[in-house]
Amino acid sequence: MFPALATHSTVFARTLPPGLEIRLMRESDLKAYKALRDAMLARHEEAFTSDAAAERGREAASYRSRLSGAGHCLFTLLAWDGRQLLGALSAECDGRAKIRHIAHIVGMMVDEAAQGRGLGHALMQAALALLAQDEALQLVTLSVTRSNTPARRLYERCGFVRYGRLEGAIVLPDGRQLDKDLMVLRLRAPTPAA
Ligand SMILES: CC(C)(COP(=O)(O)OP(=O)(O)OC[C@H]1O[C@@H](n2cnc3c(N)ncnc32)[C@H](O)[C@@H]1OP(=O)(O)O)[C@@H](O)C(=O)NCCC(=O)NCCS
Repeated sequence: MFPALATHSTVFARTLPPGLEIRLMRESDLKAYKALRDAMLARHEEAFTSDAAAERGREAASYRSRLSGAGHCLFTLLAWDGRQLLGALSAECDGRAKIRHIAHIVGMMVDEAAQGRGLGHALMQAALALLAQDEALQLVTLSVTRSNTPARRLYERCGFVRYGRLEGAIVLPDGRQLDKDLMVLRLRAPTPAA
């Protein structure tokens, strides 16, 4: 499906601040990924659908499902400054024939110390470039908490538009209900019917 990704990771340098690298997540990255993810989920409970306490209890190895080619996951991209993991994003796709043309972006995060330098934008551009290689894909969707203005603006700058809003989409441990904006980006025109 992504021939260039099957055997080796890909480095994206074009849009990145100097010294930073974006590449595919590997087995040896799982512990660092879990550490970043646990920290971000705990600090931004309004931003993520996954629950911080439940995710903390997971083994790092359980995130093998987010490696390229595993199950519904198309790939996970990680952003590094040397040996320090700064950001991550995953792309997933349900392989059933009628919805095989839709990819979903999940788990977008950039460590607070690295925010506002274009890393989120670079992660998304790298993901969209990879997704565009797959000619079967036409649409990319994501959801974002309505009040998460930095994330929403970033997605809009990348070309996503809102197609709906799910009111009360997540319920936080303290009982607050938050709405999610549903966004979509079209990668290519629909394939004409045979
Ligand atoms: C949302 C998130 C991923 C954005 O990551 P980021 O790396 O800060 O994103 P960017 O730097 O690409 O863009 C953020 C802002 O920095 C600005 N920026 C980009 N490059 C810049 C640069 N070189 N210098 C200064 N500012 C810059 C952008 O203009 C943008 O500002 P704007 O929204 O006012 O236009 C990050 O804030 C985050 O992880 N938040 C917590 C978790 C979260 O909300 N995840 C999303 C779940 S849907």
